[in-house]
Amino acid sequence: MQENATQETAMQETAVQETSVQKNDSVRTALVTGSSRGIGRAIARRLAGDGMVVAVHYGKDAEAAQETVEMIVRDGGRAFSVGADLATHDGVRALVEGVRAGLAAHTGEAVLDVLVNNAAATTSGGHLADETPERFDRVFAVNVRAPYFLVQGLLPVLRDGGRIINIGSAVTRIALADELAYAMTKGAMETFTRTLANVVGERRITVNTVSPGPTRTEGLIAAMAAMPQLEGMLIGGQALPWVGRPEDIADPVAFLASEDGRWITGTVIDASGGTYLGPKR
Ligand SMILES: NC(=O)c1ccc[n+]([C@@H]2O[C@H](COP(=O)([O-])OP(=O)(O)OC[C@H]3O[C@@H](n4cnc5c(N)ncnc54)[C@H](OP(=O)(O)O)[C@@H]3O)[C@@H](O)[C@H]2O)c1
Repeated sequence: MQENATQETAMQETAVQETSVQKNDSVRTALVTGSSRGIGRAIARRLAGDGMVVAVHYGKDAEAAQETVEMIVRDGGRAFSVGADLATHDGVRALVEGVRAGLAAHTGEAVLDVLVNNAAATTSGGHLADETPERFDRVFAVNVRAPYFLVQGLLPVLRDGGRIINIGSAVTRIALADELAYAMTKGAMETFTRTLANVVGERRITVNTVSPGPTRTEGLIAAMAAMPQLEGMLIGGQALPWVGRPEDIADPVAFLASEDGRWITGTVIDASGGTYLGPKR
C-alpha cells in the first residue's frame, strides 16, 4: 500500500515536471471530468492535441488517470490529474480547489477555458421495480448535482468566451425501461444546458450538450464480449454502420470548444450515429 502510494506520488511528480509551463497568455485550458478512461479520456486527449493544458479528473482510479496524462505527454501535450469523488459535495469543492491550484501551477494563472462535464454514474438500479432511494440519490448526485455545483464553483475562473460542454445521452429520446433513473439525470442536464446558456451568455460563454448513443467504452466492450450478436443488433438500430467510438464523441466536443463553435449555445447535439431514428425501409 505504502509502496503504491510512493510510486503514485513519484509518477505525479514526473508529470508535473514534464507538463509545467510558464504563464502564457495564449495557452487555453480545459477540465474534463471522468477522463481516467472511456469517452472522457478521448476528449482529454483531443483537447490536449488542440493545444490545451488539460486537467484530467478521476473518481477512484488514479492509475488510469495517470495513464491518460502520460498518453497526452507522449503525444506532446500538457496535462495533470486531479482526483475527487463527485458523489459528495465535499468532493465537488475539492475538485474546484484542485483544478484552480493545478492550473495555477501548470500555466501560471487559475483560468479555465473549457469545462467538460463528462463523469457519470452510468448504472442505477435498473427497472423501476428494482430501484432504491440510495441508488437513485447517488445517480442524481454524480450526474446532476455535481455538474451544477462544479459550474457554480468554476464560473469565477471560467474565461469570458469560455465553453461548458455536458455529455448527455440518447436515452433522453429513446425510452429504455432499464435505465429510467439514469435517463432522468440526462434529461435534467438538457434543461440545465438550455437555461444556463441564458444565464452565462452575456459573458459570451456557450453551454451545450453532446449526446452519445452506445459507445465502445469498458461497459459496452464487456457486454459485446459476453453477447457476440450485440454488435450487429446495435448497428441494425442505427443509421450509420459502426458502433460509436470514444473519438466519435470527442470530435464534436472539440468543435464546440473551438472558435468555430462560438455561435452555438443552449442546444443538444446528438452524436449517436443516428441511433433509433426509425424504420430503415
Ligand atoms: N459509453 C456509452 O455507451 C455512453 C452512451 C451514452 C452516454 N454516455 C455518457 O458518456 C459519459 C462517459 O461515459 P463512459 O462510458 O466513458 O463512462 P465510463 O467508462 O464508465 O467512465 C466514467 C468516468 O466517470 C468517472 N466517475 C464515475 N463515477 C464517479 C464519481 N462518483 N466521482 C468521480 N468520478 C466518477 C470515472 O472515474 P474513475 O473510474 O476514476 O472512478 C470515469 O472516469 C457519461 O456521461 C455517460 O453517461 C456513455
